[in-house]
Amino acid sequence: MAPIGSIIFALFSLPFLVASQDQPLSWDDDQFYECLLHEPTIFPRQLGSLFYTQSAQSYWPILQSTLRNRRFNSSDASKPRYIITPHNSDHIRGAVMCSKRFNLDLRVRSGGHDYEGLSYLDRRGPFVLLDLGQFRKIDVNVTDKTAWVEAGASLGEVYYNIANKSGTLAFPSGLCRSVGVGGHISGGGQGTLMRKYGLAADNVIDALIVKANSTLLDRKGMGEDVFLGHTRRWGCKFWRRCLMETQISPCSS
Ligand SMILES: Cc1cc2nc3c(=O)[nH]c(=O)nc-3n(C[C@H](O)[C@H](O)[C@H](O)COP(=O)(O)OP(=O)(O)OC[C@H]3O[C@@H](n4cnc5c(N)ncnc54)[C@H](O)[C@@H]3O)c2cc1C
Ligand SMILES: *[C@@H]1O[C@H](CO)[C@@H](O)[C@H](O)[C@H]1NC(C)=O
Ligand SMILES: *[C@@H]1O[C@H](CO)[C@@H](O)[C@H](O)[C@H]1NC(C)=O
Ligand SMILES: *[C@@H]1O[C@H](CO)[C@@H](O)[C@H](O)[C@H]1NC(C)=O
Ligand SMILES: *[C@@H]1O[C@H](CO)[C@@H](O)[C@H](O)[C@H]1NC(C)=O
Repeated sequence: MAPIGSIIFALFSLPFLVASQDQPLSWDDDQFYECLLHEPTIFPRQLGSLFYTQSAQSYWPILQSTLRNRRFNSSDASKPRYIITPHNSDHIRGAVMCSKRFNLDLRVRSGGHDYEGLSYLDRRGPFVLLDLGQFRKIDVNVTDKTAWVEAGASLGEVYYNIANKSGTLAFPSGLCRSVGVGGHISGGGQGTLMRKYGLAADNVIDALIVKANSTLLDRKGMGEDVFLGHTRRWGCKFWRRCLMETQISPCSS
């Protein structure tokens, strides 16, 4: 079997979000909503399926959808002020820009497998959950043995999509199929193909990140140091706030 070559994944890093202002701006639901509406890429008619306050009917189902630790599944656990479920990178840019403008912390959640709840809990104050449950497209190219994978996809979905197109390609990563690509690759990613092909992160050939200034950068744009920092050296966690989208790499036999 050959390693499927290149996972390109979109890491959205928001490194300076919290430190950006000394004094929080005053904010409320309407103002935040207005901010999202005024982002040119997010149109009002789309917001219904992108933005949830605690009073929204879908708020709880979405929050609980990938919440894995029962200890935090209670009404007294810290809960996001808002949940944003982006469908594309422009939505993510809008979420970053508005969270920053209102000095709200931002948590990113892909598969929700962090048992300490780092992807959806924050005890420091009001925060926004960027839930990547809708951000999970996978595009496998067997010709050049690469794939683009969005950060919200699960490992199982990646494996399935590759296997559905090829009997000889694979992506070296972890065992648990419901683990999210976003958290997995940013932490390294060990699996059964590791001895031959290395960590999942070693097989990333490109990535997209959203900077705190809401610019979208690919590997070339971010530069090799930042790219390797995200994918090889420290993982996204070094940057405190990241999101990912992915491209896959080929494994050969
Ligand atoms: C049952 C189980 C089996 C596992 N098996 C393996 C295994 O075989 N091999 C292995 O290496 N690991 C394994 N792990 C560990 C797993 O890879 C990590 O917990 C990983 O961080 C989970 O990623 P997630 O996206 O599902 O979790 P999340 O809770 O969504 O995210 C985990 C962390 O990464 C951050 N994050 C999430 N998405 C992004 C993003 N797009 N950009 C930047 N940061 C992001 C979150 O903010 C959080 O801090 C396993 C974990 C569990 C619970
Ligand atoms: C959290 O609570 C909801 C509703 O009570 C339940 O459907 C869900 O299974 C719970 N999740 C976990 C991980 O306990
Ligand atoms: C797959 O990759 C090959 C080689 O780079 C390219 O020519 C082709 O257009 C790609 N296919 C798709 C569907 O993108
Ligand atoms: C698997 O591939 C077939 C044929 O290319 C396609 O019709 C089907 O939708 C794929 N399955 C999934 C779940 O993508
Ligand atoms: C954001 O950062 C990028 C990369 O550092 C830079 O090129 C760009 O000009 C910045 N954009 C703004 C609006 O400050």
